[in-house]
Amino acid sequence: MADRSKPSFFITTPIYYVNAKPHLGTAYTTVLCDVQARYRRLKGYNVKFLTGMDEHGEKVEEAARQHGMEPQEWCDSQAPFFKRLWEELEISNDDFIRTTEPRQVRSVQYLWDRMQESGYLYKGSYDGWYCVPEETYFTETQVTKADEERHTEGQHLCPDCGRPLERVQEESYFFKLSAFQDRLLKLYHEHPDFVQPDFRMNEVRSFVEGGLQDLSVSRTSFDWGIKVPFDDKHVTYVWFDALQNYLTAVGYGVDTPEAQAELAFRWPAQYHVVGKDIIRFHCVIWPAMLMAIGEALPEHVFAHGFLMVRNEETGKGEKMSKSRGNAIAPQDVVELLGVEGYRYYFMTDVTPGEDGAISFSRMEQVYNADLANSWGNLVSRALNMSAKYFDGKTPEDDPEWVSRQNPLSQIAQGIAQRYSEHMDKIEYVQAKDVVMELVHAANHYVEDSAPWTVAKDPARAGELADIIRNLLEAIRISAHLLTPFMPQTSAEVLRRMGAEAEVDCEDLDAACVWGQLAGGVEVTKGDALFPRLAKK
Ligand code: MSP
Repeated sequence: MADRSKPSFFITTPIYYVNAKPHLGTAYTTVLCDVQARYRRLKGYNVKFLTGMDEHGEKVEEAARQHGMEPQEWCDSQAPFFKRLWEELEISNDDFIRTTEPRQVRSVQYLWDRMQESGYLYKGSYDGWYCVPEETYFTETQVTKADEERHTEGQHLCPDCGRPLERVQEESYFFKLSAFQDRLLKLYHEHPDFVQPDFRMNEVRSFVEGGLQDLSVSRTSFDWGIKVPFDDKHVTYVWFDALQNYLTAVGYGVDTPEAQAELAFRWPAQYHVVGKDIIRFHCVIWPAMLMAIGEALPEHVFAHGFLMVRNEETGKGEKMSKSRGNAIAPQDVVELLGVEGYRYYFMTDVTPGEDGAISFSRMEQVYNADLANSWGNLVSRALNMSAKYFDGKTPEDDPEWVSRQNPLSQIAQGIAQRYSEHMDKIEYVQAKDVVMELVHAANHYVEDSAPWTVAKDPARAGELADIIRNLLEAIRISAHLLTPFMPQTSAEVLRRMGAEAEVDCEDLDAACVWGQLAGGVEVTKGDALFPRLAKK
């Protein structure tokens, strides 16, 4: 039962199609959300982090057929691949939704009834183009324009992905999307941070300014989908079904007091995190659907860029694909960097809003510089010295020793607030910089204060205790701030310094106030956290 005295923070990933195994791209979105979910738990929120699988539609049905299976059987066989990878990558989702579950069927059918009542639904017939890989409709004008640009000589290709289109002629229900142009523009005007980052908002706004067409939201030429409750020849268009998952997971359409309390507590969502490829569905169609049925709108849609593989010869980013032979599997990266190194690399070296060119050589560089040489090395030196000079314990604060100003406490002042300003907006690279400033300063401080020399002079015992205490305190605070990125390592560091009670912290700001290190507590030296990667 959720503790509703805390504020709710509801964050979602897209639900992924089960036509393929989870890959580096889908894992990227999922880890990005996980870091935010863990951060919000540290800030005292009651978090619901939702992910799942999008199982209906032509694309999934085709994948099933290619594997000689029934669609449901195929989806069931794929679910473990997603669940296993998310577990391996330390994804802390609170829910995993599948669109073939009864709760989704009920909620989508409830949505149909509300849409019918709203007056924004009508029956007609669709005659136009459809891209199965993208599960998207295209107008004649869009297709002709793209074909002219591409010189496709009679073949009609998808304006977005360039793959062959299907001609669809069928009876269909339409959602009057065109009626929402003004309301959507008003939303963007009044809530300029509805779409993040800013430049994506501009893209969405100009798309809507260009005019909106009504959207076909049911299909009659195949049946792998949720039946329209009042017309069972029709199944729900896969996107109309998929978007609804966000409401389903928080109890929409369930007539019990518990479900209604959950909906009131959780909705609207704070963040839908999506890739830039599906921004129109989330920033145009989804808010219009919610407006039609009178539900509140999500606070933010954050659209991240795409991971591209850096071509070492040209230095340019290329689309990842099996046919180019440049696809990188999540397991390959985990093998190289470990799970925590994996998370750290993608979250702190790729700017979330932009496309990021990734490469194995860059991964090694970041891992060695930040994790092996800076963070790991700092922890191991400080714990070793604490154990060596203070009988296996953290030094006690020496009341005789009048502490000099040390650079670390100054840097640590207000650090949680500076870090949070960035984390709140999914600016992970800048948030990491705030922490690494303290880590780097601590490494310099070791060199500058030379505790090994101080230790030789018994008259300087107070000074030695002060140096080691400062180092351990900087480490304690950094471990807290690095928790969302590398939860296991941070927990391990806190344990090694005898601060396991702080591992499940729910008040980051309080935990990061300088001067809370307990003295006389046993420390564990342990193995290197991040062994240096040797040059291949
Ligand atoms: N099923 C829909 C989403 C429905 S949400 C109501 C869908 N699924 S998908 O399996 O195609 O996943 C698309 C998402 O995967 C992208 O939006 C993005 O989050 C992620 N990525 C896929 N390839 C990617 C990269 N190369 N780089 C980063 N993320 C990418 O669309």
